[in-house]
Amino acid sequence: VLGEHGALALQYGPTEGDAGLLAEIARLMEADGTVGLGPDRLMVTSGSQQALDLVSRVFLAPGDAVLCGLPTYLGALGAFSAAGARLAGVPLDEHGLRIDILEQRLVELRRSGVRPKLVYVVPDFQNPAGVTLGLERRTDLLQIARDFELLVVEDSPYRALRYAGQALPSVASLDREGRVIGLYTFSKILSPGLRLGWVVADPEIVARLVVAKQAVDLCTSSLAQVLAREFLRTGRLEAWIERTRALYALKLEAFAGALEDALEPSWGVCFRRPEGGLFLWVALPAWMSARRLLDHALRENVAFVCGSAFHCDGSGANTLRLNFSYPSVEQLREAARRLARALARMRTEVPAARAQTEPRSIEVPLASGEHSLDQLSWNLALTEVVV
Ligand SMILES: Cc1ncc(COP(=O)(O)O)c(C=O)c1O
Repeated sequence: VLGEHGALALQYGPTEGDAGLLAEIARLMEADGTVGLGPDRLMVTSGSQQALDLVSRVFLAPGDAVLCGLPTYLGALGAFSAAGARLAGVPLDEHGLRIDILEQRLVELRRSGVRPKLVYVVPDFQNPAGVTLGLERRTDLLQIARDFELLVVEDSPYRALRYAGQALPSVASLDREGRVIGLYTFSKILSPGLRLGWVVADPEIVARLVVAKQAVDLCTSSLAQVLAREFLRTGRLEAWIERTRALYALKLEAFAGALEDALEPSWGVCFRRPEGGLFLWVALPAWMSARRLLDHALRENVAFVCGSAFHCDGSGANTLRLNFSYPSVEQLREAARRLARALARMRTEVPAARAQTEPRSIEVPLASGEHSLDQLSWNLALTEVVV
Protein backbone atom coordinates (compact mmCIF):
# COMPACT_ATOMS: atom_id res chain seq x y z
CA VAL A 1 0.00 0.00 0.00
CA LEU A 2 2.80 2.44 0.86
CA GLY A 3 4.58 1.62 -2.42
CA GLU A 4 1.57 2.08 -4.65
CA HIS A 5 -0.73 4.43 -2.73
CA GLY A 6 1.63 6.17 -0.30
CA ALA A 7 0.69 9.71 -1.27
CA LEU A 8 -2.97 8.99 -0.50
CA ALA A 9 -2.39 6.72 2.49
CA LEU A 10 -0.20 9.26 4.30
CA GLN A 11 -2.50 12.26 3.71
CA TYR A 12 -5.65 13.54 5.35
CA GLY A 13 -8.75 12.28 3.58
CA PRO A 14 -12.43 13.20 3.31
CA THR A 15 -14.32 13.01 6.62
CA GLU A 16 -16.92 10.66 5.15
CA GLY A 17 -14.20 8.22 4.11
CA ASP A 18 -12.08 7.16 1.14
CA ALA A 19 -14.31 6.96 -1.96
CA GLY A 20 -12.75 3.65 -3.05
CA LEU A 21 -13.33 2.07 0.35
CA LEU A 22 -16.93 3.35 0.43
CA ALA A 23 -17.52 1.71 -2.98
CA GLU A 24 -16.11 -1.60 -1.66
CA ILE A 25 -18.30 -1.32 1.46
CA ALA A 26 -21.38 -0.68 -0.74
CA ARG A 27 -20.61 -3.95 -2.56
CA LEU A 28 -20.19 -5.77 0.75
CA MET A 29 -23.53 -4.41 1.98
CA GLU A 30 -25.24 -5.37 -1.27
CA ALA A 31 -24.07 -8.96 -0.86
CA ASP A 32 -25.60 -8.81 2.63
CA GLY A 33 -29.00 -7.63 1.32
CA THR A 34 -28.74 -3.85 1.73
CA VAL A 35 -28.96 -2.76 -1.89
CA GLY A 36 -28.58 0.52 -3.73
CA LEU A 37 -26.36 2.30 -1.21
CA GLY A 38 -25.06 5.52 -2.71
CA PRO A 39 -22.11 7.30 -1.08
CA ASP A 40 -24.54 9.74 0.60
CA ARG A 41 -25.88 6.86 2.74
CA LEU A 42 -22.47 5.67 3.92
CA MET A 43 -19.61 6.97 6.00
CA VAL A 44 -16.44 5.49 7.45
CA THR A 45 -15.83 5.74 11.20
CA SER A 46 -12.89 5.00 13.47
CA GLY A 47 -14.54 1.75 14.60
CA SER A 48 -18.18 1.27 15.57
CA GLN A 49 -17.36 2.74 18.92
CA GLN A 50 -16.85 6.11 17.28
CA ALA A 51 -20.18 5.71 15.51
CA LEU A 52 -21.85 5.14 18.89
CA ASP A 53 -20.20 8.29 20.18
CA LEU A 54 -21.20 10.33 17.11
CA VAL A 55 -24.81 9.13 17.26
CA SER A 56 -24.90 10.10 20.94
CA ARG A 57 -23.43 13.54 20.26
CA VAL A 58 -25.83 14.28 17.41
CA PHE A 59 -29.08 12.80 18.72
CA LEU A 60 -28.92 12.81 22.51
CA ALA A 61 -29.22 15.66 24.97
CA PRO A 62 -28.78 15.25 28.73
CA GLY A 63 -31.84 13.54 30.19
CA ASP A 64 -32.98 11.92 26.92
CA ALA A 65 -34.18 8.33 27.29
CA VAL A 66 -32.59 5.46 25.35
CA LEU A 67 -33.95 1.92 25.33
CA CYS A 68 -31.50 -0.93 25.21
CA GLY A 69 -31.18 -4.63 25.96
CA LEU A 70 -30.81 -5.99 29.45
CA PRO A 71 -27.97 -6.96 29.05
CA THR A 72 -26.31 -5.03 26.22
CA TYR A 73 -22.90 -3.95 24.92
CA LEU A 74 -20.99 -2.11 27.59
CA GLY A 75 -19.37 0.39 25.18
CA ALA A 76 -22.80 1.55 24.01
CA LEU A 77 -23.91 2.12 27.60
CA GLY A 78 -20.75 4.20 28.03
CA ALA A 79 -21.37 6.30 24.91
CA PHE A 80 -25.04 6.97 25.75
CA SER A 81 -24.23 7.75 29.38
CA ALA A 82 -21.44 10.14 28.38
CA ALA A 83 -24.08 12.13 26.47
CA GLY A 84 -26.16 12.28 29.66
CA ALA A 85 -28.83 9.84 28.46
CA ARG A 86 -31.07 7.90 30.82
CA LEU A 87 -31.04 4.22 30.00
CA ALA A 88 -34.10 2.01 30.14
CA GLY A 89 -33.44 -1.72 29.97
CA VAL A 90 -35.58 -4.22 28.09
CA PRO A 91 -35.03 -7.92 28.86
CA LEU A 92 -33.95 -10.50 26.29
CA ASP A 93 -34.94 -14.09 25.75
CA GLU A 94 -33.55 -16.72 23.40
CA HIS A 95 -34.94 -14.74 20.40
CA GLY A 96 -33.28 -11.50 21.43
CA LEU A 97 -34.84 -8.28 22.67
CA ARG A 98 -38.40 -8.76 24.02
CA ILE A 99 -40.21 -6.47 21.62
CA ASP A 100 -43.49 -6.88 23.53
CA ILE A 101 -41.83 -5.54 26.69
CA LEU A 102 -40.17 -2.78 24.64
CA GLU A 103 -43.62 -1.65 23.56
CA GLN A 104 -44.94 -1.80 27.13
CA ARG A 105 -42.04 0.32 28.34
CA LEU A 106 -42.62 2.85 25.58
CA VAL A 107 -46.28 3.13 26.53
CA GLU A 108 -45.34 3.58 30.21
CA LEU A 109 -42.73 6.20 29.36
CA ARG A 110 -45.16 8.06 27.14
CA ARG A 111 -47.72 8.06 29.95
CA SER A 112 -45.17 9.66 32.25
CA GLY A 113 -44.38 12.28 29.62
CA VAL A 114 -41.05 10.81 28.42
CA ARG A 115 -40.41 10.45 24.68
CA PRO A 116 -37.34 8.28 24.11
CA LYS A 117 -35.13 9.21 21.17
CA LEU A 118 -33.75 5.85 20.20
CA VAL A 119 -33.64 2.11 20.66
CA TYR A 120 -30.28 0.37 20.59
CA VAL A 121 -30.10 -3.25 19.40
CA VAL A 122 -27.34 -5.73 18.63
CA PRO A 123 -29.52 -8.11 16.61
CA ASP A 124 -26.95 -10.71 15.53
CA PHE A 125 -25.20 -12.84 18.17
CA GLN A 126 -25.55 -10.11 20.69
CA ASN A 127 -22.69 -8.94 22.86
CA PRO A 128 -22.84 -10.21 25.57
CA ALA A 129 -25.75 -12.69 25.48
CA GLY A 130 -25.06 -14.32 22.08
CA VAL A 131 -28.76 -14.30 21.10
CA THR A 132 -30.14 -13.32 17.69
CA LEU A 133 -33.24 -11.20 17.13
CA GLY A 134 -35.94 -13.26 15.35
CA LEU A 135 -37.26 -12.16 11.94
CA GLU A 136 -40.73 -11.27 13.17
CA ARG A 137 -39.21 -9.20 15.97
CA ARG A 138 -37.14 -7.30 13.43
CA THR A 139 -40.26 -6.22 11.55
CA ASP A 140 -42.14 -5.58 14.81
CA LEU A 141 -39.26 -3.38 15.95
CA LEU A 142 -39.59 -1.26 12.82
CA GLN A 143 -43.35 -0.97 13.31
CA ILE A 144 -42.83 0.18 16.90
CA ALA A 145 -40.15 2.65 15.80
CA ARG A 146 -42.72 4.07 13.37
CA ASP A 147 -45.51 4.20 15.96
CA PHE A 148 -43.35 5.89 18.60
CA GLU A 149 -41.24 7.97 16.18
CA LEU A 150 -37.95 6.46 17.26
CA LEU A 151 -34.60 5.97 15.64
CA VAL A 152 -33.22 2.44 15.75
CA VAL A 153 -29.47 2.02 16.19
CA GLU A 154 -28.62 -1.41 14.79
CA ASP A 155 -25.09 -2.36 15.86
CA SER A 156 -24.02 -5.55 14.15
CA PRO A 157 -20.30 -6.29 14.38
CA TYR A 158 -20.74 -10.08 14.49
CA ARG A 159 -23.18 -10.48 11.61
CA ALA A 160 -20.75 -12.29 9.29
CA LEU A 161 -19.63 -14.68 12.03
CA ARG A 162 -22.47 -17.21 11.80
CA TYR A 163 -21.63 -20.85 12.53
CA ALA A 164 -25.11 -22.40 12.50
CA GLY A 165 -28.68 -21.61 11.40
CA GLN A 166 -30.04 -19.30 8.71
CA ALA A 167 -28.91 -15.72 8.10
CA LEU A 168 -31.63 -13.15 8.79
CA PRO A 169 -32.03 -9.81 7.00
CA SER A 170 -30.51 -6.88 8.83
CA VAL A 171 -32.99 -4.45 10.37
CA ALA A 172 -31.48 -1.73 8.13
CA SER A 173 -32.27 -3.75 5.00
CA LEU A 174 -35.95 -4.01 6.08
CA ASP A 175 -36.25 -0.31 6.85
CA ARG A 176 -38.27 1.75 4.36
CA GLU A 177 -38.42 4.98 6.35
CA GLY A 178 -34.81 5.89 7.07
CA ARG A 179 -35.24 5.20 10.80
CA VAL A 180 -32.37 2.73 11.15
CA ILE A 181 -28.78 3.75 11.70
CA GLY A 182 -26.73 0.64 10.88
CA LEU A 183 -23.30 0.33 12.52
CA TYR A 184 -20.72 -2.09 11.12
CA THR A 185 -17.04 -2.71 11.64
CA PHE A 186 -13.99 -4.47 10.27
CA SER A 187 -12.91 -5.22 13.84
CA LYS A 188 -14.34 -8.74 14.04
CA ILE A 189 -13.89 -9.76 10.41
CA LEU A 190 -10.48 -8.29 9.58
CA SER A 191 -8.65 -6.57 12.43
CA PRO A 192 -9.68 -4.43 15.42
CA GLY A 193 -6.30 -2.67 15.29
CA LEU A 194 -7.24 -0.95 12.03
CA ARG A 195 -10.00 0.94 13.92
CA LEU A 196 -12.32 0.94 10.93
CA GLY A 197 -16.07 0.85 10.91
CA TRP A 198 -18.89 2.27 8.83
CA VAL A 199 -22.38 3.67 9.16
CA VAL A 200 -25.36 3.07 6.86
CA ALA A 201 -28.15 5.59 7.30
CA ASP A 202 -30.45 8.11 5.69
CA PRO A 203 -28.46 10.84 3.82
CA GLU A 204 -29.61 13.53 6.26
CA ILE A 205 -28.39 11.50 9.23
CA VAL A 206 -25.08 10.71 7.53
CA ALA A 207 -24.56 14.42 6.81
CA ARG A 208 -25.07 15.29 10.49
CA LEU A 209 -22.76 12.52 11.66
CA VAL A 210 -20.07 13.69 9.20
CA VAL A 211 -20.22 17.23 10.62
CA ALA A 212 -19.87 15.81 14.15
CA LYS A 213 -16.93 13.65 13.07
CA GLN A 214 -15.15 16.67 11.59
CA ALA A 215 -14.94 18.11 15.08
CA VAL A 216 -13.75 14.84 16.58
CA ASP A 217 -10.95 13.54 14.35
CA LEU A 218 -11.22 15.17 10.89
CA CYS A 219 -11.04 11.77 9.24
CA THR A 220 -10.40 8.10 9.96
CA SER A 221 -6.79 6.97 9.36
CA SER A 222 -6.15 7.10 5.61
CA LEU A 223 -3.52 4.36 5.90
CA ALA A 224 -5.99 1.99 7.55
CA GLN A 225 -8.66 2.83 4.97
CA VAL A 226 -6.40 2.20 1.99
CA LEU A 227 -5.19 -1.07 3.55
CA ALA A 228 -8.79 -2.23 3.95
CA ARG A 229 -9.77 -0.97 0.50
CA GLU A 230 -6.99 -2.93 -1.17
CA PHE A 231 -7.77 -6.03 0.91
CA LEU A 232 -11.38 -5.87 -0.27
CA ARG A 233 -10.60 -4.83 -3.86
CA THR A 234 -8.31 -7.80 -4.33
CA GLY A 235 -11.06 -10.15 -3.10
CA ARG A 236 -9.30 -11.32 0.05
CA LEU A 237 -12.01 -10.57 2.60
CA GLU A 238 -14.43 -13.42 1.73
CA ALA A 239 -11.78 -16.12 2.16
CA TRP A 240 -10.57 -14.44 5.34
CA ILE A 241 -14.07 -14.47 6.83
CA GLU A 242 -14.53 -18.13 5.82
CA ARG A 243 -11.33 -19.04 7.61
CA THR A 244 -12.27 -17.04 10.67
CA ARG A 245 -15.72 -18.63 10.81
CA ALA A 246 -14.33 -22.16 10.58
CA LEU A 247 -11.80 -21.45 13.33
CA TYR A 248 -14.28 -19.83 15.72
CA ALA A 249 -16.91 -22.55 15.12
CA LEU A 250 -14.29 -25.11 16.15
CA LYS A 251 -13.39 -23.11 19.24
CA LEU A 252 -17.03 -22.69 20.25
CA GLU A 253 -17.60 -26.43 19.98
CA ALA A 254 -14.44 -27.20 21.93
CA PHE A 255 -15.25 -24.74 24.71
CA ALA A 256 -18.94 -25.56 25.05
CA GLY A 257 -18.13 -29.28 25.04
CA ALA A 258 -15.37 -28.85 27.64
CA LEU A 259 -17.70 -26.84 29.89
CA GLU A 260 -20.40 -29.48 29.61
CA ASP A 261 -17.85 -32.12 30.61
CA ALA A 262 -16.41 -30.10 33.47
CA LEU A 263 -19.53 -28.69 35.13
CA GLU A 264 -21.78 -30.92 37.23
CA PRO A 265 -25.43 -30.69 36.11
CA SER A 266 -26.51 -30.36 39.76
CA TRP A 267 -24.61 -27.06 40.02
CA GLY A 268 -27.33 -25.32 38.02
CA VAL A 269 -24.93 -23.42 35.78
CA CYS A 270 -26.59 -22.67 32.45
CA PHE A 271 -25.57 -21.47 29.02
CA ARG A 272 -26.71 -22.03 25.46
CA ARG A 273 -24.61 -22.34 22.32
CA PRO A 274 -24.94 -19.16 20.25
CA GLU A 275 -25.33 -19.49 16.47
CA GLY A 276 -22.43 -17.11 15.96
CA GLY A 277 -20.34 -14.35 17.48
CA LEU A 278 -17.65 -14.56 20.10
CA PHE A 279 -19.33 -15.16 23.44
CA LEU A 280 -20.88 -17.70 25.75
CA TRP A 281 -23.26 -16.14 28.22
CA VAL A 282 -23.50 -18.02 31.46
CA ALA A 283 -26.04 -17.81 34.27
CA LEU A 284 -25.09 -19.09 37.70
CA PRO A 285 -27.70 -20.01 40.30
CA ALA A 286 -29.25 -16.87 41.76
CA TRP A 287 -27.36 -17.12 45.05
CA MET A 288 -23.97 -17.03 43.32
CA SER A 289 -22.09 -13.84 42.56
CA ALA A 290 -20.07 -13.73 39.35
CA ARG A 291 -17.80 -11.16 41.03
CA ARG A 292 -17.00 -13.65 43.77
CA LEU A 293 -16.47 -16.38 41.21
CA LEU A 294 -14.02 -14.11 39.42
CA ASP A 295 -11.88 -13.95 42.58
CA HIS A 296 -11.71 -17.75 42.60
CA ALA A 297 -11.15 -17.89 38.83
CA LEU A 298 -8.27 -15.39 38.97
CA ARG A 299 -6.54 -17.65 41.47
CA GLU A 300 -6.74 -20.27 38.72
CA ASN A 301 -5.34 -17.68 36.28
CA VAL A 302 -8.49 -17.55 34.18
CA ALA A 303 -10.69 -14.47 33.71
CA PHE A 304 -14.09 -13.43 32.35
CA VAL A 305 -16.30 -10.35 32.32
CA CYS A 306 -18.93 -10.11 35.05
CA GLY A 307 -22.42 -9.83 33.55
CA SER A 308 -23.58 -6.96 35.76
CA ALA A 309 -21.35 -4.61 33.72
CA PHE A 310 -23.72 -5.14 30.77
CA HIS A 311 -26.89 -4.33 32.72
CA CYS A 312 -27.88 -0.68 32.75
CA ASP A 313 -29.93 -1.26 35.92
CA GLY A 314 -27.12 -2.96 37.83
CA SER A 315 -28.82 -6.39 37.80
CA GLY A 316 -27.29 -9.62 36.47
CA ALA A 317 -24.96 -10.26 39.43
CA ASN A 318 -25.15 -14.01 38.76
CA THR A 319 -24.20 -13.77 35.05
CA LEU A 320 -20.90 -13.75 33.19
CA ARG A 321 -19.54 -13.49 29.67
CA LEU A 322 -16.94 -15.90 28.36
CA ASN A 323 -15.00 -15.23 25.16
CA PHE A 324 -14.02 -18.20 23.01
CA SER A 325 -12.44 -16.55 19.94
CA TYR A 326 -9.12 -15.42 21.35
CA PRO A 327 -7.71 -18.37 23.34
CA SER A 328 -6.47 -21.51 21.58
CA VAL A 329 -8.55 -24.70 21.68
CA GLU A 330 -6.16 -26.13 24.27
CA GLN A 331 -6.42 -23.00 26.42
CA LEU A 332 -10.22 -23.15 26.18
CA ARG A 333 -10.28 -26.77 27.38
CA GLU A 334 -7.99 -25.89 30.25
CA ALA A 335 -10.06 -22.77 31.04
CA ALA A 336 -13.21 -24.92 31.33
CA ARG A 337 -11.47 -27.21 33.84
CA ARG A 338 -10.18 -24.24 35.85
CA LEU A 339 -13.56 -22.53 35.87
CA ALA A 340 -15.11 -25.75 37.12
CA ARG A 341 -12.54 -25.89 39.95
CA ALA A 342 -13.30 -22.26 40.83
CA LEU A 343 -17.02 -23.02 40.87
CA ALA A 344 -16.57 -26.14 42.96
CA ARG A 345 -14.64 -24.09 45.53
CA MET A 346 -17.20 -21.35 45.52
CA ARG A 347 -20.03 -23.82 46.11
CA THR A 348 -18.49 -24.64 49.46
CA GLU A 349 -18.89 -20.97 50.52
CA VAL A 350 -21.75 -19.23 52.29
CA PRO A 351 -24.00 -22.25 52.69
CA ALA A 352 -26.57 -20.20 54.63
CA ALA A 353 -27.06 -17.67 51.83
CA ARG A 354 -27.29 -20.51 49.40
CA ALA A 355 -29.91 -22.40 51.35
CA GLN A 356 -32.08 -19.29 51.45
CA THR A 357 -32.00 -18.44 47.78
CA GLU A 358 -31.07 -21.50 45.78
CA PRO A 359 -34.00 -22.55 43.61
CA ARG A 360 -35.07 -26.08 44.39
CA SER A 361 -35.25 -26.94 40.72
CA ILE A 362 -31.50 -26.99 40.28
CA GLU A 363 -31.30 -30.11 42.44
CA VAL A 364 -32.98 -31.86 39.51
CA PRO A 365 -30.70 -32.82 36.60
CA LEU A 366 -31.08 -30.19 33.90
CA ALA A 367 -31.87 -32.29 30.91
CA SER A 368 -35.45 -31.60 29.91
CA GLY A 369 -35.09 -27.99 28.85
CA GLU A 370 -38.17 -27.29 30.95
CA HIS A 371 -36.53 -25.02 33.46
CA SER A 372 -38.05 -21.62 33.18
CA LEU A 373 -36.82 -18.11 33.64
CA ASP A 374 -38.30 -17.95 37.13
CA GLN A 375 -36.90 -21.24 38.33
CA LEU A 376 -33.39 -20.21 37.51
CA SER A 377 -33.87 -16.52 38.35
CA TRP A 378 -32.34 -15.42 35.10
CA ASN A 379 -32.80 -12.19 33.33
CA LEU A 380 -32.31 -14.09 30.10
CA ALA A 381 -34.62 -16.99 29.33
CA LEU A 382 -32.56 -19.93 28.15
CA THR A 383 -34.93 -22.62 27.03
CA GLU A 384 -32.16 -24.85 25.75
CA VAL A 385 -30.45 -25.54 29.04
CA VAL A 386 -27.13 -27.18 28.40
CA VAL A 387 -25.52 -27.71 31.77
C1 LIG B 1 -21.75 -4.63 19.94
C2 LIG B 1 -20.46 -3.91 19.72
N1 LIG B 1 -20.49 -2.68 19.18
C3 LIG B 1 -19.37 -1.99 18.97
C4 LIG B 1 -18.13 -2.52 19.28
C5 LIG B 1 -16.91 -1.67 19.04
O1 LIG B 1 -16.24 -2.14 17.92
P1 LIG B 1 -15.12 -1.33 17.17
O2 LIG B 1 -13.84 -2.09 17.36
O3 LIG B 1 -15.55 -1.32 15.73
O4 LIG B 1 -15.05 0.05 17.73
C6 LIG B 1 -18.05 -3.79 19.85
C7 LIG B 1 -16.76 -4.35 20.23
O5 LIG B 1 -16.65 -5.36 20.86
C8 LIG B 1 -19.25 -4.50 20.06
O6 LIG B 1 -19.26 -5.72 20.59
